[in-house]
Amino acid sequence: MADKKAQLIIEGAAPVELPILTGTVGPDVIDVRGLGASGHFTFDPGFMATASCESKITYIDGDKGILLHRGYPIEQLAEQSDYLETCYLLLNGELPNAEQKAQFVSTVKNHTMVHEQLKSFFNGFRRDAHPMAVMCGVVGALSAFYHDSLDINNPQHREISAVRLVAKMPTLAAMVYKYSMGQPMMYPRNDLSYAENFLHMMFNTPCEIKPISPVLAKAMDRIFILHADHEQNASTSTVRLAGSSGANPFACIAAGIAALWGPAHGGANEAVLTMLDEIGDVSNIDKFIAKAKDKNDPFKLMGFGHRVYKNRDPRATVMKQTCDEVLSELGIKNDPQLELAMRLEEIALTDPYFVERSLYPNVDFYSGIILKAIGIPTSMFTVIFALARTVGWISHWKEMLSSPYKIGRPRQLYTGYEQRDIVDLKDRK
Ligand code: CMC
Repeated sequence: MADKKAQLIIEGAAPVELPILTGTVGPDVIDVRGLGASGHFTFDPGFMATASCESKITYIDGDKGILLHRGYPIEQLAEQSDYLETCYLLLNGELPNAEQKAQFVSTVKNHTMVHEQLKSFFNGFRRDAHPMAVMCGVVGALSAFYHDSLDINNPQHREISAVRLVAKMPTLAAMVYKYSMGQPMMYPRNDLSYAENFLHMMFNTPCEIKPISPVLAKAMDRIFILHADHEQNASTSTVRLAGSSGANPFACIAAGIAALWGPAHGGANEAVLTMLDEIGDVSNIDKFIAKAKDKNDPFKLMGFGHRVYKNRDPRATVMKQTCDEVLSELGIKNDPQLELAMRLEEIALTDPYFVERSLYPNVDFYSGIILKAIGIPTSMFTVIFALARTVGWISHWKEMLSSPYKIGRPRQLYTGYEQRDIVDLKDRK
């Protein structure tokens, strides 16, 4: 909706009038689409002040520490909902009623297996490959297996692809883990819940099927909910950008996985544990805090800070509670790494450097500790983030394709050479 206008005064040129758009909540947005006619572009590397799209899926108020999916606070979803219900909400806009939920769960379960031939794809990878490297490959490879749902202009195809991705990600994630361990891959079990089935495929073997702890399954489900979506972050924007060219959904999600891998984004959960290992002991914390503050040192305190949250990350609050539940279920007390993490948190929350910059622990700070306690190896942490975020990515992809959109094509401020002529090779210095 545009009722207000902004006026841009450009020296030596006529003023440009720009509409101001108003969302449901959140800051107004200056619509600069008409600016190109004046011969100017905006310059905003890192999207510090640019909305890349319109969306109805997720709202974040970073100053107040609020995260809403389709209007529902993340705390309520974590407490009163489950992951598949949250998936339905993100994909369809409303929470399901009992019948819709049963139907959705059953549809997802119908798609949990992957094509048998996909197994041989794994054999091309080294066993010690990073699981995220394998995930980028195998998820992209799904487009070679499901030709029947690749027409992005067909809403039914988009629907089937969305369900397939949500259903198959746990299977693929567990297959990646089993491959790295040299253990047989486990088929999904549709009598289990989404989280139970994932833990079953991760930790059970054909020769020993152990029951899944309900507390751990609940914790896993919560981790999935807390990572399900986070509006236009780097990986979601990557999925939208890839999708805007008309690429198929499996290729787009593979692009999202690649973007998520970086330590400034989803790779942070793995980086937190690596950092705790590196710090090693409480007595070394001061040294690492000093490194984090030193502008000449690239080291950053992993699991702290966020582009949007300048207050507590609401996901981190729920994650901390879950962390306490899991540690108590597993009887983990006096864990040195956990003590180290808690001490680090305490220092960072009181140190003026972190306080002035509003650098709070983010979702990745606690999720790593929980995942480690559940027995998931560090290298699988970001895979789990990818598994859970797939529904967010695919919801944004679907949203974009459901209304008129343009290929994403940013402009640039060119600072390279002006036109020049090639010097013959023999005359070059
Ligand atoms: N340790 C030390 N200093 C930090 C940290 C940190 N973790 N994060 C930000 N700063 C400083 C930064 O140096 C800058 O200082 P100054 O103003 O003096 O130059 C100031 O705080 C503002 O930071 P920024 O780098 O401009 O903020 P950004 O919005 O560009 O980056 C971030 C956000 C998440 C990439 C960054 O905080 C970071 O690298 N954190 C560590 C990695 C991490 O935990 N990432 C997970 C994010 S949550 C999950 C997800 O979204 O994937």
